[in-house]
Amino acid sequence: MVNRIPEDKIAEIKNSADIVEIISDAVQLKKAGRNYLGLCPFHNEKTPSFSVSPDKQIFHCFGCGVGGNVFTFLMKQEGFSFPEAARMLAGRYGVVIPPPQLSPEQHQQLKFREDLLNVNREAMQYFRHALMNSRAGQGALQYLLKRGLTEAAIDQFNLGYTPDGWDNLLIFMKKKGVAATLVEKSGLVVPRKSRSGYYDRFRNRIIFPIFAQSGQVIGFGGRVMDDGLPKYLNSPETPLYHKSRSLYGLHNARNQCRLRESVFIVEGYFDLIALHQNGVTNAVATLGTALTVEHVKLLRGYIGQNGKVMLVYDSDEAGIKAAQRSIAVFDNAFVNAQILVLPEGHDPDSFIQSNGIDEFHAAAAKASSAIEFLLESAIAQYGLSIDGKLRVISELLKPLAAVNDGVARSLHAKLIAERLNIDEEAIVEKLNQYLKRPRPSERGSGQLAADKLIANRPGAGSIRMERRLITMMLQFPEINPEIEAQGVLDYFENQELQTIGMAILRCFDQTGRESSPASGKDQSWISTVVDAVETELQSQLTHLANTDDSWSLDGSRKLIAQFLSGRQNIRSSQTLETQIRAAEQNNDERLLEKLLIEKYKLAVRKSRQNAAMQEDN
Ligand code: GTP
Ligand code: MN
Repeated sequence: MVNRIPEDKIAEIKNSADIVEIISDAVQLKKAGRNYLGLCPFHNEKTPSFSVSPDKQIFHCFGCGVGGNVFTFLMKQEGFSFPEAARMLAGRYGVVIPPPQLSPEQHQQLKFREDLLNVNREAMQYFRHALMNSRAGQGALQYLLKRGLTEAAIDQFNLGYTPDGWDNLLIFMKKKGVAATLVEKSGLVVPRKSRSGYYDRFRNRIIFPIFAQSGQVIGFGGRVMDDGLPKYLNSPETPLYHKSRSLYGLHNARNQCRLRESVFIVEGYFDLIALHQNGVTNAVATLGTALTVEHVKLLRGYIGQNGKVMLVYDSDEAGIKAAQRSIAVFDNAFVNAQILVLPEGHDPDSFIQSNGIDEFHAAAAKASSAIEFLLESAIAQYGLSIDGKLRVISELLKPLAAVNDGVARSLHAKLIAERLNIDEEAIVEKLNQYLKRPRPSERGSGQLAADKLIANRPGAGSIRMERRLITMMLQFPEINPEIEAQGVLDYFENQELQTIGMAILRCFDQTGRESSPASGKDQSWISTVVDAVETELQSQLTHLANTDDSWSLDGSRKLIAQFLSGRQNIRSSQTLETQIRAAEQNNDERLLEKLLIEKYKLAVRKSRQNAAMQEDN
């Protein structure tokens, strides 16, 4: 990672930057007690519920729940990436980020990449000039305008043209003093087979430069202007261009993807530009390849774990197949994916040209969720006989299990049940069986994992307790060594809270111990915790950090003890239930009696603990 900013510099930036000052640039803040209040920039409101804490160096909106630290704010508000936000703050607060120390090989590699980027940039300028200012480019420009592209879009996407002939670009590069061997590495020229020398890869084509997220030109696509074949030609894989990792239009779309927490994915260059010039600026295109896991990861960085994905395909069979494949790519990552299949014979470009963008939005609003889409395709494949229904269900278990939200999951189950005209319970039962099956990652990781698998889903009460524990860890960090020593987090049922807890312990170890004396006055280490968790967890974290609670050592220890004994009870009662069932099956009356007495004792112990807990609260 060449562009990585060293950790100590990040810490230095964090120490010098003032969140109140930075947020004040965008939001009018008024002092209210220890904190500042203002109107939330992330949702519409009339009374201020957006709070900024100078002590903790975090912000949180009690209206919409968004929260984070100074980096998060700049990322959300300005659409910056993390390094961009860090560099911006470094500049503003005078933190000098040293150029990275590179080994000679790394240096050479970096230089090579820079040289290739230069070649691409020069080539792009050449192609643009040929389109806009040469006689030969007139036809190409007419072609683009005839296809409905606006001049603004042609500019924005830096479209170009490459004249007919075998060595136009080659000669241009030679004049610029660029070695032909380097141009070959960029994929723009190809070595001749029969004799020495090279020829231009792209000839007499419209040129679409392909940009990396950062805005650098990493490759090109070229389209013929008649019925010639191949219709499209793309750069080959080069050290800069990997089609399984590149998405056309991402550079233009990324800020809107972040803001709207959603993305449209289409297949073609013209489809993408048609969407952008009609205001759908959160759109990207895969180019001549199916959507890959890497694409999905990349997009998730912008739209977030729960961001919405709209896969747009033309109606032909190939499109539907691609959609099915794409759903598999999402796997457990996120299934907020919808499939929009356009009417017969239309791709997004032609659909918008003939029906207008409003119709496109209307179609998108009616798009089916990935689950519905899979359901209908499975029904089409297997039919609705008894055997068919069974196959349909087993086909849908995996995607259904991947839906994280419990409510959404049960709504989906209901939808499937209604469509198949069977009992909803039957699906839920199958789903539970599927969810409880041992998964490779959980197998062999000790008794704890096995217990977790059979554990009941925690009730609202126990989640509340886990939340209180996290709040305590943030507001009364003195307790963290005990949390760690007793392995409290191992007993958490809620994985998000557990992740947050682990981040707290990590950060407390690194910074909290020194900077948070027993008085607990310096709370700025909390902002470090915000960085240590994924974006999706940050709001939950800042919410918990802002909860009003007061802590004492005694009270904190009591909370831990209650929590642990409760969890250990659940565990022993589960073992007990298993033993009871076995004794019943074996008709072992005496053992059964003994076990039932134990069960009774356990129940008494639990109700005493519950009573004690209520007294405390
Ligand atoms: P237009 O006819 O210009 O509207 O293109 P399209 O995007 O509607 O074409 P199509 O649906 O045929 O292709 C979708 C995308 O697949 C294109 O935008 C290209 O990225 C890619 N593609 C299509 N044809 C070829 C080809 O012959 N070679 C390569 N490498 N890619 C192609
Ligand atoms: Mn098309």
